[in-house]
Amino acid sequence: MRIDVVTLFPEMFEPVLGASITGRARTRGLLELGTVNPRDFAADRHRTVDDRPFGGGAGMVLMAEPLHRAIKSVRRPGSRVVCLTPRGPRFDAAAARRLAREEHLVLVCGRYEGLDERVLRLCDEEVSIGDFVLTGGELPAMMVADAVARLIPGVLKKADAAACESFEGGLLEHPHYTRPRVWRGRKVPEALLSGDHERIAEWRRCAARRVTRRRRPDLLKTST
Ligand code: ADE
Repeated sequence: MRIDVVTLFPEMFEPVLGASITGRARTRGLLELGTVNPRDFAADRHRTVDDRPFGGGAGMVLMAEPLHRAIKSVRRPGSRVVCLTPRGPRFDAAAARRLAREEHLVLVCGRYEGLDERVLRLCDEEVSIGDFVLTGGELPAMMVADAVARLIPGVLKKADAAACESFEGGLLEHPHYTRPRVWRGRKVPEALLSGDHERIAEWRRCAARRVTRRRRPDLLKTST
C-alpha cells in the first residue's frame, strides 16, 4: 500500500511513522509513505496557502487552489482521497479495515479554521478521529495511517495478532500478563498457567466480555 499525506508540516510524519512497526513495514516495502506540501503549489513568492474567511470571523482558511494542485499531484486512478476533519464520520476499526484494502490512500490534513469547502469535492470521504478539535489534521492522519498499516498482511509479526484484540468481534480485548507469576503479591489468573488451550481461550472470551460490559457496554449492544 502507498499513503501520500497532503500537509503543510511534512516534517511531523517521519519521527512517528518512521519508527517501530510502521518504520519496519516501510523498510520491508509493505508500506510506502510520501508527503506533499500545498505550499509548493502556492501562486505567489511568499508561498501563501491561507486567507481570511469570507463573511468575517476569526482564523484563516486554507485556499482551494494550492490544496487542489497538491492533491492532483499525487492522486491517480483508483486512489482514495480522505480528508481529516472533525466534521467527518468517526474513524473506527471497521473504517481501518475498509481503508486497509485500498492500494493508495491520499490523506488531506486541514489546518487553521479549515479548508475552503469547495476543495472537499476532491475528497472521497471525510474522517474524524473523535469529538474534539486538534490544531490540524496531521495527528489524525498519523493515527489513520498507523491503524491501517498494521492491518496490511505481513506487517504484524504474528498472522493473528490483529484478529483478536480490542474491537474485533465487537469486544474490548482481554487482559494480558507476563512474568513473574506473582508480582507484588498479585497472581496471574490460574487458567492462563494451565497450558490447556481450550481453558485459556474460554477464560479470555469471558474476560473480554467482562471488561467490555464494565467499560464499554455500548459495544455489547451492537455485537452478537
Ligand atoms: N482536525 C482537527 N481535529 C480533528 C479531528 N478530531 N479529527 C480529524 N481531523 C481533525
